[in-house]
Amino acid sequence: MRKFLGPEPYQQSEDDKRVQQELRSLGKLPKHIAVIMDGNGRWAEERGLPRAAGHQAGIASLRDVTRSSRELGIDFLTVYAFSTENWRRPQREVSMLFRLLVKMLREELQEMLQNGVRLKTIGQTSLLPKLVQQELSSAIERTANNKGLTLTLALSYSGRWDLVRAMQSIALEVRSGKISPEDISEETIHQALTTNDLPDPDLLIRTSGELRLSNFLLWELAYSELHITKTLWPDFRREHLYEAVREYQKRERRFGLTGAQLKNAHTSSDIELPPEQKSYVDKVISAITRGGKK
Ligand code: FPP
Repeated sequence: MRKFLGPEPYQQSEDDKRVQQELRSLGKLPKHIAVIMDGNGRWAEERGLPRAAGHQAGIASLRDVTRSSRELGIDFLTVYAFSTENWRRPQREVSMLFRLLVKMLREELQEMLQNGVRLKTIGQTSLLPKLVQQELSSAIERTANNKGLTLTLALSYSGRWDLVRAMQSIALEVRSGKISPEDISEETIHQALTTNDLPDPDLLIRTSGELRLSNFLLWELAYSELHITKTLWPDFRREHLYEAVREYQKRERRFGLTGAQLKNAHTSSDIELPPEQKSYVDKVISAITRGGKK
């Protein structure tokens, strides 16, 4: 009989190691995967269960996706756990989600520490219940020096909220004379966002088949590959993640340039371009190759 009800002891299977090895050999892996975890409610309703059961089951999916992303060698995983719009849900469901979040943080902390997972949040976390804030701060602090996967929970987050914040902070810098309007660049905006220490996602996965961004990472997803699956989040497991990565590896990532232009280019000097486009194209090439041309 186990003494406490945490997750079962876990060890990666040899078969799974082989599958991951094969994936790595197939092509470049996404460095950053973002996930819109959708369909918990429908999963529960289909089974005649309360919505809470869907969210509870969704935690097992998040656990498996976090484990397998780390093992595979993904550096950043960012998940939409609670949107600004989710505050409009019935109070009971909101409270229950935060209770589950606290339970999840307590149960998973040990494994995160053992496996080098660093926890981070984006969003207006000051609006969350005090206990949730305390548990988050403690887990973030304790995992701060971990060097493996960075798991970012988007909580009370929306892309527009972050953009408004960013614009306000840039406007203040302009008003105080620190920068002039002409100095504002994509980099200025990137630095003002709460995601300023994350690379843009290479791949966005959305479960449950909806074809929307739902106000998630609006600036950051500009060039991300999209993978929409009908699988509901509580059914989503590492096999589905591998499928998304395989599909990503098959796509040619071009950022508005032609495949022919990019095929043999190592820097913008290898492409005939107007001078003002050179730095943009260098950024594109470096985003595609991430330092080493495949
Ligand atoms: C969307 O399903 C899911 C959520 C609003 C929360 C997802 C979060 C988790 C499962 C992981 C852990 C995070 C916390 C905060 C405990 P939905 O309810 O919108 O599903 P539906 O579209 O089928 O109704």
